[in-house]
Amino acid sequence: MKVFEKAYMGSLVLKNRIIRSATFEGMCDDNGNPHKEYVKLYSKLSEGDIGGIITGFSFVSRDGKAMHPGQAGIDSTQKIDSYREVANIVHKNNCKIFMQIAHTGRQTKANKTGMPVVGVTGKKSFYFAEKPETLNTIQIMRIVDKFINSALYSQEAGFDGIQLHCAHGYLIHQFILASINKRQDEFGIHKKTGIGTKFLELIIDGIRKKCTREFAILVKVSGSDDYFNRFNTRQFIELIKFLDYKRVDGIEISYGTMDYAMNIFRGDVPIDVVMSNNPIHRVNSRMGKILWKSLVYPFVKYKLKPFTPLYNLEYAKIAKSQTNIPVIYVGGVRKGEEIKSLVEQHNFDFVSLCRPFICEPDFVKKLMENELYNSKCVNCNICAVMCDSEQATHCYKYN
Ligand SMILES: Cc1cc2nc3c(=O)[nH]c(=O)nc-3n(C[C@H](O)[C@H](O)[C@H](O)COP(=O)(O)O)c2cc1C
Repeated sequence: MKVFEKAYMGSLVLKNRIIRSATFEGMCDDNGNPHKEYVKLYSKLSEGDIGGIITGFSFVSRDGKAMHPGQAGIDSTQKIDSYREVANIVHKNNCKIFMQIAHTGRQTKANKTGMPVVGVTGKKSFYFAEKPETLNTIQIMRIVDKFINSALYSQEAGFDGIQLHCAHGYLIHQFILASINKRQDEFGIHKKTGIGTKFLELIIDGIRKKCTREFAILVKVSGSDDYFNRFNTRQFIELIKFLDYKRVDGIEISYGTMDYAMNIFRGDVPIDVVMSNNPIHRVNSRMGKILWKSLVYPFVKYKLKPFTPLYNLEYAKIAKSQTNIPVIYVGGVRKGEEIKSLVEQHNFDFVSLCRPFICEPDFVKKLMENELYNSKCVNCNICAVMCDSEQATHCYKYN
C-alpha cells in the first residue's frame, strides 16, 4: 500500500509515510542532557520500521524550559556529542530523525526554570498563572538566535532536520495568536493577515542561512484553539500561506494550547491521577479531592472536546488545500484503515501518531504484517498527565 512507499520531506527520502509525532520523554537531566533511557527509546522506536521520528520538545534556552522534569535541551555545543549518539542509532535503522525545538514563553513556571517567565505581552496563561515579563526587541532577537543555534547544533549532531514547535501555546504560537499578541511593534499582529509571523520568519530565515538546504525545517501548528477570541479559519489559511511562501519542508497540523491541554490529546481525563500528580491542580486531602471533583471539574469539563477518530481532519484538509508542501496529519489515528484512507483518499503526505507508539513502539511492524491492525491505545491519557511527574513517559496501561 502507498503508506509503505518511500516519500519526500523536502529533499529527504523517508522509507514510508508513518511518523512518530513529538512526544515528551522525561528522560534527561536537569540541563537537558539525555540519559541512557532516551537513547534506548529512540533505538527501539527506529527498530520498529517508522519512517521518521520527531523528538519530544527540547528547549532552545534555559528561560524557555518547560516545567516538566526531565525535558531535553539543545541549547549549547556541549550537547552535540550526546545527541549525536541518538541520531547515529536511528540512522543505522534507516529511519530519519527531527529534533523538535521550542521555547515555552509564558507556559512555564519560574520556580522550575530558575529564570523569569517571559512572554509576548504581560498576559498570563490562566493555567500556568504567572505574569510574564514582556520581551523587548533585544530579548526577542536573542531568542531568535537561540532557535537558530539550536537548529545548527541539531544539524551538527547528525539530525535530519528540526521541527519548530509553533503549536500548543508555546512562544512562537503566542506571537502568532491575536488573542495573546497585543504588541504594537513589528512583532505584533499584521493588519492584513490577522496573525503575527515576524518572529517565526526571522527564525526560519536564520536557520536557512546557517544550516544546509538539505536540513529539513518542519513546523507544527494548531488549526484553532479554545480561547474566547479563537484562531479562525481565515487566520489559519494565512498561516499556511505564510509557511508555503517560506517553503518549509513539512507542516504538521495539531490543535489548541496548554491552557486547555486535554483538547490537544482528547479522550479520558484521569482525574485522580491529575489530583495526585499535577503541580498546579495537586490536591492532598480527601475532602479537597471531593470538592475539586464536584466544584472545579464541572467547569473544566464544560470546555472539553471528545475524542473522535481523526479529530484534526477538518484543519488538516484546509492546510492540504492551500499548499503543495508535505502535510503531516496528526490526532486520533488508531486504525490501520484510517492510515490508509488518510494517505490514499485524503492525499496526506505523512501520518503521525503519538500515543500508539507509547504503548507499542513496534506499531508499524505490526501494521506491515496486517494493514488492518488497530492500536491498543485506549486514550486513558495517564501518559499525558504524568508528564508533570518525575516519571519518564511510558504507557501505564500495558507496561
Ligand atoms: C505523553 C505525551 C507527550 C507529548 N509531547 C509532545 C511534545 O513534546 N511536543 C508536541 O508537539 N506534542 C506533544 N504531544 C502531542 C502529540 O504529539 C500529538 O499531537 C497528540 O497526542 C495527538 O496525537 P495522538 O492522538 O496520536 O496521540 C504529546 C502527547 C502526549 C500524549
